[in-house]
Amino acid sequence: MDFQENTTLQGLERLRSESLDAGGPTRKDEQHKKGKLTARERIDLLLDENTFEEFDVFKASRRATLNAKEKNYLGDGVITGHGSIDGREVFVFSQDFTVLGGSLGEAHAQKICKVMDYAVRVGAPIIGINDSGGARIQEGVDALASYGEIFQRNVWASGVVPQISCIMGPCAGGAVYSPSMTDFVFMVEDTSYMFVTGPSVVKTVTHQDISAEDLGGAEVHATISGVTHFTVPNDILCLREVRRLINYLPSSNRQRGPIHDLSDAANRTDPALDHLVPANSNQAYDMNVLIRSILDGAEFMEVHARFARNIICGFGRLGGQTVGLVANQPAVLAGVLDSDASFKAGRFVRFCDTFNIPIISLVDVPGFMPGPDQEHGGLIRHGAKLLYAFARATVPRISVIVRKAYGGAYIVMNSKHIHCDVNFAWPTAEIAVMGPKGAAEVLYHREISKASNPEAMLNEKMEEYRTSFANPFLAAKRGYIDDVIFPRDTRVHLIRALQMLDGKRGEEPDRKHGNIPL
Ligand code: HXC
Repeated sequence: MDFQENTTLQGLERLRSESLDAGGPTRKDEQHKKGKLTARERIDLLLDENTFEEFDVFKASRRATLNAKEKNYLGDGVITGHGSIDGREVFVFSQDFTVLGGSLGEAHAQKICKVMDYAVRVGAPIIGINDSGGARIQEGVDALASYGEIFQRNVWASGVVPQISCIMGPCAGGAVYSPSMTDFVFMVEDTSYMFVTGPSVVKTVTHQDISAEDLGGAEVHATISGVTHFTVPNDILCLREVRRLINYLPSSNRQRGPIHDLSDAANRTDPALDHLVPANSNQAYDMNVLIRSILDGAEFMEVHARFARNIICGFGRLGGQTVGLVANQPAVLAGVLDSDASFKAGRFVRFCDTFNIPIISLVDVPGFMPGPDQEHGGLIRHGAKLLYAFARATVPRISVIVRKAYGGAYIVMNSKHIHCDVNFAWPTAEIAVMGPKGAAEVLYHREISKASNPEAMLNEKMEEYRTSFANPFLAAKRGYIDDVIFPRDTRVHLIRALQMLDGKRGEEPDRKHGNIPL
């Protein structure tokens, strides 16, 4: 390519259209046949119409410039720039699989690094659309070095601007570590996968036959590994969901989330909540009912919806303001905390704290999951992540104890003792060292074993314990609970508490950073 020949307006047009052409119509067709959109089509759907401003249209690989045999792809297989989502600025890069399989070489990576740097400098989210064969083999160590530059920027951007990754094709090898260091990962079902080592290496090393989908498809990462926060059936819905997420988030750590008035009265009550908790405290109910009832317009964007379903995390609005919700789910494993739930909620709490999003916890937790699987799997380490995350969070924190709040799990789930700001309880709350059955067995095991009817005696002792200990009033007497409220008024109390906490300033001891139990 001779840039000298193109110094006219027609020449500029020619170069631009060459860049737009990318890998050519055949490869674009192949992309469509796989059910995938092209890199540019994705950007068009992600951003507000006609707002995309592209950078580095003419940037090309140094190798191709020097070596006449290699094709010089203008743009080097990635499209970068900025535009807006509902009027707010975001930066974006979109890997173009039609150019050398979207593989990452030096120029390609420099383009990504440039938009990441801009995002941090101006304080706007960075959204990466990944569709790549990984490190460009022809560029050898330069390609590896370039990945390192991106990883370093992921770390610098962390906690400064929201980072969102869309996996819309292959993402393999060390390349997976960039998305996994971002705040939220979206995967498209059937057309995307992520793994450190692919099926062929697995076969060589472990002699296992496994497909790419079973090894690292969207389903696996949504339900088993927890690598992805969202799965979506196709590219179009993926980009729509990213826009929805952005609407809850501040542009940077210097700002607060955007206010959206959903015309839902702050004094709206819901009498049905008075009957949500079943009379039998061992009976399950769906925490989603409470979540939808209290939030503005019943709108809730759940994060990690299919992973560790015993805890629910997600974004909603109260009085127009974004809040992060962390709620035990009694309908799944009785809402118990296990390693996955602790990791999931811990990371979510950290995100909210970093980006000035108040945290609301809805508590119904019987404790931590007992058993060797969990203990040997590091329940202590993982549980500590959630404890650390809540205790470290300096954003406004509000808790509602709906029913069970036992033992260590009571403390971990945003209790007054780890400096939650406002703690409410419903009259159905059971705040105690352990559940009635466990407590009765520990305290009265001799009497029960000698009783003529041990089961009747156990029930009697459990009932005794329930009335004397498993209620919210002992904690309220101590001031550990600020108020025992009528369930129907929960939304009203939460909005008032948020307003009261609006001017909260978090305090931090002088240190470089804490040592979170990673
Ligand atoms: C250069 C690549 C490439 C790569 C694909 N291409 N990956 N070129 N470097 N890494 C090219 C192909 O040669 C082909 O060019 C075009 O892209 C499309 O690829 P196909 O194989 O035809 O497409 P498809 O059948 O859909 O398969 C896609 C694929 C496969 C599964 C991604 O291409 C593949 O396995 N690529 C290698 C993946 C890999 O092992 N990457 C390194 C990972 S390790 P033509 O001209 O024929 O159309 C890594 C380390 C990161 O990335 C380290 C970070 C620290």
